[in-house]
Amino acid sequence: MASPPPPPFSCFLCLLWLSMISLAIVSTNATPPKKPIDVPFHKNYVPTWAYDHIRYFNGGKEIQLVLDKSTGTGFQSKGSYLFGHFSMQIKLVPGDSAGTVTAFYLSSQNSEHDEIDFEFLGNRTGQPYIVQTNVFTGGKGDREQRHYLWFDPTKDYHSYSILWNMYQIVFFVDDVPIRMFKNSKELGVRYPFNQPMKLYSSLWNADDWATRGGLEKTDWSKAPFVASYRGFHIDGCEASVEAKFCATQGMRWWDQKDFQDLDGWQYRRLQWVHNKYTIYNYCNDRSRYPTLPPECHRDRDI
Ligand SMILES: *[C@@H]1O[C@H](CO)[C@@H](O)[C@H](O)[C@H]1NC(C)=O
Repeated sequence: MASPPPPPFSCFLCLLWLSMISLAIVSTNATPPKKPIDVPFHKNYVPTWAYDHIRYFNGGKEIQLVLDKSTGTGFQSKGSYLFGHFSMQIKLVPGDSAGTVTAFYLSSQNSEHDEIDFEFLGNRTGQPYIVQTNVFTGGKGDREQRHYLWFDPTKDYHSYSILWNMYQIVFFVDDVPIRMFKNSKELGVRYPFNQPMKLYSSLWNADDWATRGGLEKTDWSKAPFVASYRGFHIDGCEASVEAKFCATQGMRWWDQKDFQDLDGWQYRRLQWVHNKYTIYNYCNDRSRYPTLPPECHRDRDI
């Protein structure tokens, strides 16, 4: 039997590089999710509708969604997933984006569906975007939170990510958690755990509700409205749409202890966002919820 050839030189370098990275990881206290890897659009996604309103650049490393008077557009992941880390870099519609909504979300495909949403509500030039987040379980949502951002999301790319495991759902903007939804099944709150979800993104006209509650209409003389995307990172447990569990449950990095809760730095950042940038939190809406939803007892102070 021939002995296997020695590994190529480049791989000694990559081993060295890998060990340096793991040293760097071991020596920090914070436990952000693994760094996303940029891949082209086509690796993980396909268009969903209005194919001709998606523009591709650099072999799909960057794309743009285009909204005009005739239609918006959207795309979805090829696979469906039960848990993982999903990240997108987005540069939102610049200039006058009032009335437009850009969304990035996970959703299962059945009637009692689960959903984890980022929605970006446009605004008049120079007025702030709103980020609305929501979590649906078993077909029921009504858990909106709304925040302003601490930067102009139309100037540069920023990353918007979702970490979803058996313990928590965390919404990140860059490295900052802006929302956490803990698994509170012991409080009787349904948690998304047995319905694989696909990722979706879209840009459409929602001037019946989006900006200042529908008061500000889309100015079609400013069309087309363009949102830019890159990154397209998906690191999840891929499962068929009908699957009830993930085959590698408990074995992936996002299942491990470091990702079952936020660390101190992350809690402080979450608190900072909630203190400074919250516009609306369903947990504080006493007219809508005279009795506090059970999960809010846990999450209220953050
Ligand atoms: C748009 O700007 C107005 C005025 O500053 C603000 O009240 C509103 O929250 C902003 N965002 C949206 C999406 O309406």
